[in-house]
Amino acid sequence: MAKDLALTSLAKHQGLQAFAYLRLQEADRLVQRATLEPLTDGGLRTAQLLADALALAPHHHQAQILQQRLYQMFVPRWHFPMLADSARNRAYAAAIAAKVKPGDIVLDIGCGAGLTAMLAARAGAKHVYTCEQQPLIAQAATRVIAENGLADRITVIPKMSHNLVIGVDLPEPADAVISEIVDTLLLGEGALDTLFHAMHRLAKPEARTIPEQGVLKAQLVESDALMRLWRPHQAEGFDLSAFHHFATIAQITPNDFATCGLKPLGPAKPLFSFDFTRPDTKPAHRIEVLSSTTTGTIHAVFVFFEMRLAPGIRVTNSVQADGHWGRTAFLLDHPIRAQPGVQLSVCAHHDAAHLSLSVAQEEAITVSVTADLSGRVDDPVADIPEHAEQTVDHGFAPPSSWPRAKSAPPPAGHAERRA
Ligand SMILES: C[S@@+](CC[C@H](N)C(=O)[O-])C[C@H]1O[C@@H](n2cnc3c(N)ncnc32)[C@H](O)[C@@H]1O
Repeated sequence: MAKDLALTSLAKHQGLQAFAYLRLQEADRLVQRATLEPLTDGGLRTAQLLADALALAPHHHQAQILQQRLYQMFVPRWHFPMLADSARNRAYAAAIAAKVKPGDIVLDIGCGAGLTAMLAARAGAKHVYTCEQQPLIAQAATRVIAENGLADRITVIPKMSHNLVIGVDLPEPADAVISEIVDTLLLGEGALDTLFHAMHRLAKPEARTIPEQGVLKAQLVESDALMRLWRPHQAEGFDLSAFHHFATIAQITPNDFATCGLKPLGPAKPLFSFDFTRPDTKPAHRIEVLSSTTTGTIHAVFVFFEMRLAPGIRVTNSVQADGHWGRTAFLLDHPIRAQPGVQLSVCAHHDAAHLSLSVAQEEAITVSVTADLSGRVDDPVADIPEHAEQTVDHGFAPPSSWPRAKSAPPPAGHAERRA
């Protein structure tokens, strides 16, 4: 009797082992197929094969690794700190509540996890059409939206906004267009081109936009820590100065930003402003004089954006702000002593997706100061006058602007979006 039981249990055990073995074999086969699958569909089929393999064999090491790689490739890492950026989220929630009206047809460009689309639905939109260029992200957003009970109010369209067609993807032009597609220097995610297209092709003539306006500003800053980070003079006793000319533009991650403790030395001056309700993609050129109003050392020209989402609601990556956006500082070749009245001329250029800036460092001059020396550096966007921007097109390709939070590879369909 005992022997019978032992035999049954052995057979059962062997049967289970054989079953597990077969599952593992099938998982291996699926992983093999996944490695051969082209990624031209944005990784959808590969992701499905790997998910199927992991359902059969949850600890399949190769499947796990390939899945991680795939997600890293197609889902930029900045999505997560961005979604955790509560100041950004609050500002968008408030702006959307203020500007989306019950009954609106809303176009949300760049669905991501679905947050702005869901905020628009919550604000009373009749229907939200949200497009997303990354198929894997669009697929996940569809799930998020369904899990929040909004599947009947929001349609996720896995397409680039430029490929949307009225009558096919949206039943009619939108009453309101929402987007959050700006990087550290505002333009690098293609917001101007995208909104130019959307406002002409996908929106009603008087459609509202969130954001409404963006401004790029520059100011002189001091930071020994920034220089130590980007221009280390020596390592283990070796002189590294001959390497420094490569470090002209510092891309500062949010963590480094806290460490660097940039100290503004004078007021921030607007370089360019952009009307997102009537976007203009023409390149522009501007020379601006930045001045210091205090003593210290000028190490860099710090450039940041301010975006007005709705009247009184803005987001920024200025020196004073925190949040997930990275920062950009154009480093001076040689530090300059700052004192009230020292002035530096910067020459800035932008096209539809890039900002470049050079500093006329040798021409730093000191002027007697009669202006406000309070060191106020952060004027509200609404105070900014329109600038007479001289537009040029000299065929020169400036460097691409820098990432929202660095570290992510550029997603398909976007050229050089993030470093
Ligand atoms: C910064 S995320 C914002 C996501 C969401 N709107 C939010 O605020 O939480 C921008 C998303 O837009 C997508 N995207 C950018 N430009 C796009 C375009 N022109 N058409 C479709 N998707 C776009 C990106 O792939 C990314 O997932």
